[in-house]
Amino acid sequence: MIKDEIAALWDSAKTEITAAASPEALETLRVRYLGKKGELTAILKQMGGLSADERPVVGALANELREKLETALEARREVLAREALISRLAAETLDVTLPGKTVPIGKRHPLTTVLEETEAIFIGMGFTIAEGPEIEYSVHNFDRLNVPAGHPARDRQDTFYFDDDDRILLRPQTSPVQVRYMETHRPPIRVISPGRVYRKDEVDATHSPLFHQIEGLVVDKGITMGDLKGALNTMVEGLYGAGAKTRFRPHHFPFTEPSCEVDVQCFECGGAGCRVCKGEGWIELLGAGMVHPNVLAGCGIDPAVYSGFAFGVGIERMAMRRFHISDMRLLYENDLRFLAQF
Ligand code: PHE
Repeated sequence: MIKDEIAALWDSAKTEITAAASPEALETLRVRYLGKKGELTAILKQMGGLSADERPVVGALANELREKLETALEARREVLAREALISRLAAETLDVTLPGKTVPIGKRHPLTTVLEETEAIFIGMGFTIAEGPEIEYSVHNFDRLNVPAGHPARDRQDTFYFDDDDRILLRPQTSPVQVRYMETHRPPIRVISPGRVYRKDEVDATHSPLFHQIEGLVVDKGITMGDLKGALNTMVEGLYGAGAKTRFRPHHFPFTEPSCEVDVQCFECGGAGCRVCKGEGWIELLGAGMVHPNVLAGCGIDPAVYSGFAFGVGIERMAMRRFHISDMRLLYENDLRFLAQF
């Protein structure tokens, strides 16, 4: 009788184990057959009622059943594990031949390009880069630059003040950085200082109330207008190509003496005269000059020993000329269709 039970138990267990679909189902079966309250235990409990002849025979069969159950469970466990691995590998397969997602790579803004090119040119000539605040004292922007209160040169720049006493303003030029630098450094001085400036200008194709300049300042013994011309010609050739020509015209700035404006020969027509240069053949680029003795002396530098040159160039203007951009507003609208072209 017990022998029959053992045989029947194996038959049903074998089928169920082979059919178990998950490790959890398999564990349930193990508990059911081999657990402390399992069916094999139940069978062994009946052995007490057997005769001395039968007991060892049935004992051997029960042990054999235990081993077969354990082997079958282990075999099924391995099959399930292998199947799980195979389906995971299938699910996680990558098709490396599919085209990838392209990540759009940004571009430098034309103003940044021109700024970085100009910086590289001057760093190549031994300049370093100085910084100054956009919110500036009018003392730095005017008085120390030889523009006392009431001077007519203030009118063009006398714009955004923060206080009733006109002591603090948004700087209308990068020239106050000259003063700040000379107050804190002794010659030889060779710096450029790029940054934002603000003016009360109406927005049109060539004006904006916010734009960018690069200031240049060199102070040492024996600096002449020839050094100014050499440095600016190097800049212009670097930006617009070898052979690009400059023209120096007399001008007036209160903080330089003599002063000049510098034009570059029109890149479009090579000087013949066209729409871009309005028939002139030349395009105005920047203001410059020899640092006024009053400015040097005001910063504690003896103008009898030292001389220097300074210039201020608009970055927008350089970028428009460099990239043939006809309307300054395009530089600020952040339209990617426009910006992606450069
Ligand atoms: N700061 C002047 C301007 O903004 C330019 C300039 C700078 C002229 C340095 C001479 C020397 O117009």
